[in-house]
Amino acid sequence: MKYDMLIANAQIAAKSGVKQCAIGVLNGKIAALESDLPNNANLIIDAAGKLVFPGFIDAHTHMGIPIMNTQSIDNFESGSIAAAFGGVTTIIDFTVQEKGQSLQESVEARIKKAEKCHVDYALHVNVTDQPEKRLLEIPGLIADGFTAFKVFSTYRQSGMMITWDGFRKVLKQIDGYGLLCLHAEDDDLVESLTANHLETGCKSAIYHARSRPAEAEAKAIARAAEIAGELGAALYVVHVSSRAGLEAGLNARARGVKIYLETCPQYLVLDEECYRRESGHRWITTPPLRTKQDCEALWQALADDQIDVVATDHCPFTIRQKDVGREAFHLTPNGLPGVETLFPLLYTYGVKTGRITIQQLVRVLAQNPARIFGLSDRKGALRVGADADLLIWNPDVQQTISAGRLHGTADWSPYEGMSIAGKLEYTILGGQVLVYGDEFVGREIYGKPLRTAQPKEFI
Ligand code: URP
Ligand code: ZN
Ligand code: ZN
Repeated sequence: MKYDMLIANAQIAAKSGVKQCAIGVLNGKIAALESDLPNNANLIIDAAGKLVFPGFIDAHTHMGIPIMNTQSIDNFESGSIAAAFGGVTTIIDFTVQEKGQSLQESVEARIKKAEKCHVDYALHVNVTDQPEKRLLEIPGLIADGFTAFKVFSTYRQSGMMITWDGFRKVLKQIDGYGLLCLHAEDDDLVESLTANHLETGCKSAIYHARSRPAEAEAKAIARAAEIAGELGAALYVVHVSSRAGLEAGLNARARGVKIYLETCPQYLVLDEECYRRESGHRWITTPPLRTKQDCEALWQALADDQIDVVATDHCPFTIRQKDVGREAFHLTPNGLPGVETLFPLLYTYGVKTGRITIQQLVRVLAQNPARIFGLSDRKGALRVGADADLLIWNPDVQQTISAGRLHGTADWSPYEGMSIAGKLEYTILGGQVLVYGDEFVGREIYGKPLRTAQPKEFI
């Protein structure tokens, strides 16, 4: 058999440790996965000494979304190039539902925006405008392959918040056929704390964290889980940031509630001390960065397989955009870049430090998001028949994160100066090379919009 591509001597994460194998790629799919294969291919890559992973899935990105009179600065084109340089070959982004827009229209508009996306992408459907009026649209979208939806229990002043009654109705409508994702913060608490801080002149970045405490997250997760429990419905909580939020989720799970938990690298490797820096407002993201103890609790939960997915919430702004809120936290566009540093950070600060295993990393960055969001027939694993989405990582090179060497549009990185144990050598999407060394060679390669199929079982 002659393959289009052969990756020889690959070190892959197997059930028990790392094993060597050869990967044959044909027509965009993994066609063979053996301990060795004859050297017969149009392109042979010798991956001796390198780790080969299934292309990672960032299940939470926001390319070019409107926030506070501006837009997150990566569009699908620039953000997907950054993704590729981070070994991410699938992103799951979100629709943006304009006022008065149907969900269907919001999906169509978002697909148009993603025309130049260089990696495969799926969409979660945001239900933000008059959710209860949109209920009847949901089954049609699910039938068309848009099976994940998202609501917010906060951002009332931006017109995005759902009431708990609305949440119950949307969850009931989706359950069994799709999955509802929730940004969980108790808005009453957030609004009253924010108002108190602003009234008393407490406007520096640390008051962003004080206005959106862990308690607000825990309260909303507990409330949502209670409703999910009553309905017997599954729920996916995005960007869990705190020990309290995590405990609320795990308590619900212990009671039998079907609840998936996602966290992000910023809640693992950064803490609220960032807000005390001279330019602390740049780190404003929602939920806020927490304490070191919160970071440790999240690491422990990853080690204990209690967190299902690590995704980024990639939502970058330039220094200039961030500086609008230099004097007042509530004026700062919230969000951080992250898609390019997702895997390097988790590998360096998770696997290399011994906090998690390489298998756990593959589970939370590839296998679980693929399964949970109905992509596992094609994505998330090195398996014959799966899309040939791959990355090759050289673990023997030491790097330092620097904004100047990253590929997104933001001109700063929240992780500036942090060490990375390794370097990406190739990113391959459907058997085509997107990234080779420091070069993006995939200018003419575009990703596909992915339809999803909700798994029947809660995993
Ligand atoms: O601050 C953040 N994370 N911005 C993006 C929107 C969201 O809440 O996820
Ligand atoms: Zn959010
Ligand atoms: Zn988000």
